[in-house]
Order: sequence, then structure tokens, then C-alpha cells
Amino acid sequence: MSEKLKFAVVGSGRIGRRHAAMVQLNDGAELVAMVDSDTSLKNELEEEFKCPFFDSMDALFAAGLDIDVVNVCTPNYLHASQSIKALENNCHVVVEKPMALNKADAELVIHTSLQLNKQIFCVMQNRYSPPAKWLKEVVTSGVLGEIYMVNVNCFWNRDSDYYQGGDPNYWKGKKDKDGGTLFTQFSHFVDTMFWLMGDIKNIQANFFDFNHQDTTEFEDSGLVQFEFVNGGAGTFNYSTAVYGENMESSISIVAEKGSIKVGGQYMNDVEYCNIENYTMPQLEDTLPPNDYGKYKGSAANHQFVIQNVVNTLNKKEIVSTNSLEGLKVVEIIENIYKLQG
Ligand SMILES: NC(=O)c1ccc[n+]([C@@H]2O[C@H](COP(=O)([O-])OP(=O)(O)OC[C@H]3O[C@@H](n4cnc5c(N)ncnc54)[C@H](O)[C@@H]3O)[C@@H](O)[C@H]2O)c1
Repeated sequence: MSEKLKFAVVGSGRIGRRHAAMVQLNDGAELVAMVDSDTSLKNELEEEFKCPFFDSMDALFAAGLDIDVVNVCTPNYLHASQSIKALENNCHVVVEKPMALNKADAELVIHTSLQLNKQIFCVMQNRYSPPAKWLKEVVTSGVLGEIYMVNVNCFWNRDSDYYQGGDPNYWKGKKDKDGGTLFTQFSHFVDTMFWLMGDIKNIQANFFDFNHQDTTEFEDSGLVQFEFVNGGAGTFNYSTAVYGENMESSISIVAEKGSIKVGGQYMNDVEYCNIENYTMPQLEDTLPPNDYGKYKGSAANHQFVIQNVVNTLNKKEIVSTNSLEGLKVVEIIENIYKLQG
């Protein structure tokens, strides 16, 4: 086994702690630092993760630790600038979704990584869910023939506790820091659609704010319609205005030689599959979603992301979600939001 890769996690909130825990569980990885601007977390984090705490990236790099990989797990608006800072300090980067809040910033990150010959790993852990892997195989194998239509529906609950949690200045829900519902809640499903079907064009969209006027600065729901550049039509309907709890995240495909629906709350169940001369394989069980108490997020597959980083940097695998894919998701969302005027 080669030497363990040394990771530092920047942003030690809900998902940063998950990154840290998954790094510590990985035989090829070692957690060397936790960073957060909230200094009140210092004792708790040092106790939990048994590694030094820094209150900024500048303090982290000034300490002169040996670091191979920085995991950027801060609020969305910091992802691009902090990824660039990590690259400039000679580190590879794992960046939480979204990679940036606009295409120009994502391009700057990619430019820097190419100049400095460092890798960017975008976090799209839903790709590791068994139904997602199966969908990718089915769509790329061609058994469906021509794909006519793809419909994605994401209907979740996100209420005032989630957006403010007692702090009206919390980043979630702020246009400039969060970016919007498609960036924070549904970019995983934009990624699934892009991964399966490629880019979209001729976008039309209507946006609504049904019950988040007091909690977010943006829409809570959208009805988006488009064509795929490679053929076929699609819709992406989403909402965080659902009563009580998450209801559904689903994708339906209508094609020449078959139809599929993968649904459940988190695209975790193959609900329908009828394909010419095709027998559905037995899929592994899907792991439960990330559980933040009252809120359920996307698939709890971060261990696979960390394993991919370790394998790729040891030249045994390729990056599972590369920076150009991360950029395309940002661009698609940006193009949809441009229609808000
Ligand atoms: N892949 C997934 O399924 C998934 C799930 C949840 C969140 N996320 C993403 O992870 C990111 C963090 O989300 P979260 O829910 O953990 O948020 P959070 O608010 O719980 O955590 C963010 C942390 O970053 C810290 N922070 C803020 N500014 C900082 C700075 N300049 N330097 C260092 N630390 C700073 C905050 O103090 C906080 O502890 C977001 O981009 C979100 O979209 C991804």
C-alpha cells in the first residue's frame, strides 16, 4: 500500500464532518486538519476528529502541514475561490456541489487546476447509488433505442428551520451565498440527468415562490421544459414547498424500445422497467439518504467519493465526477435561472 494521502477538510458543518468521518474510515487516507471560520467549533472538532483545528485556510497553509487533498465543504459561494486557494497551495481538491455558482468561476477553477496539474473531484455521490449506476448502464448500452422523453420530478420539503435554524443570517436561502434551489437541493438530479442524457437546449421555465417568501430570497418551485442536444425532450419539475417531508425524486424515461421510472424519495427505487428482450437485474440495496435529523438529503455515499480520490491519486481509477462535468451542471442551472429575468 502506498503512503496514506493527507486530507484537510475546510468547512466543518453538516457535510464537512461527514467528509472527515469518511476520510478517517478509509485505509488509504488520513485526516490532518479541520478548518472552520466558526471558532466555537474548535474544541468539539478537535475532540471528535483528533486533529488540529484552524479558523481559516490562510492559517491552515501558514502552519506548513503536509497536505495532499483539501475538501471544500463550505457554503456554495465560497467553493470556487477556496478551491483555487487550495490548488495554489499545491493540493488536489474535493469540492462539494455545486462546484461554483456560475460558469465563469467554474472555468477559473479548471484553468487553475490545469495550470498547476492538480485534480478536481466534484462531489456527486448519487452516481454511486445502485439505481443510478443501473440507469447509466441501460441508457449507454442502447437497449432503449431512441430516447423520446425524460421527465425529472423533485418534490422536497425545506421549511424555515432548515433555512434559518434560529439564525436569520444563515447562508442557506440567500441568493448570493446559496444561489437557489437548483444549486443547493437539486443539483444532484441535474447531474443525473446530464450524466445520462447530456446537455439541454431551448429551455423554457416558470418559477414560483409558494411558501418561502419569509425564508428564502428565491423561488421554491420551478417547471422547466427543454430539448436534449442529443435528441429527445425533457422536463425538470422541482419544489421545496412540499408539506411535511420529502415526497419524491424521480426520473421517467420514455423510449422507442422501453420505459423506465426510477423513483422513491431519493431516486432509490426502480418503480417501472419494461424494455424489449430485457430482464431487469437484481440491484444491490441503496444506502439510506444523509440524515440531518428532521431533514433527509441525497444519498449517503461519500465513502465512495473518498475512495475514488484515493484510487485516482494512486493511479488505479479515474475521477468519478470530473471538473468539466461539475462545470456543465453549473452551466445548465445558470442557463435555467437566466430565464428568471
Ligand atoms: N453532497 C451532498 O449530498 C451535500 C449535502 C449537504 C450539503 N452539501 C454541500 O456542502 C456544503 C456545506 O453544506 P452544509 O449543509 O454542511 O452547511 P453548514 O452550514 O452546515 O456548514 C458550512 C460550514 O462552513 C463554515 N464556513 C463558513 N465560511 C467559512 C470560511 N470562509 N472558511 C471556513 N469555514 C467556513 C461554517 O461555519 C459552517 O460550519 C454546501 O455547499 C452544500 O451544498 C452537499
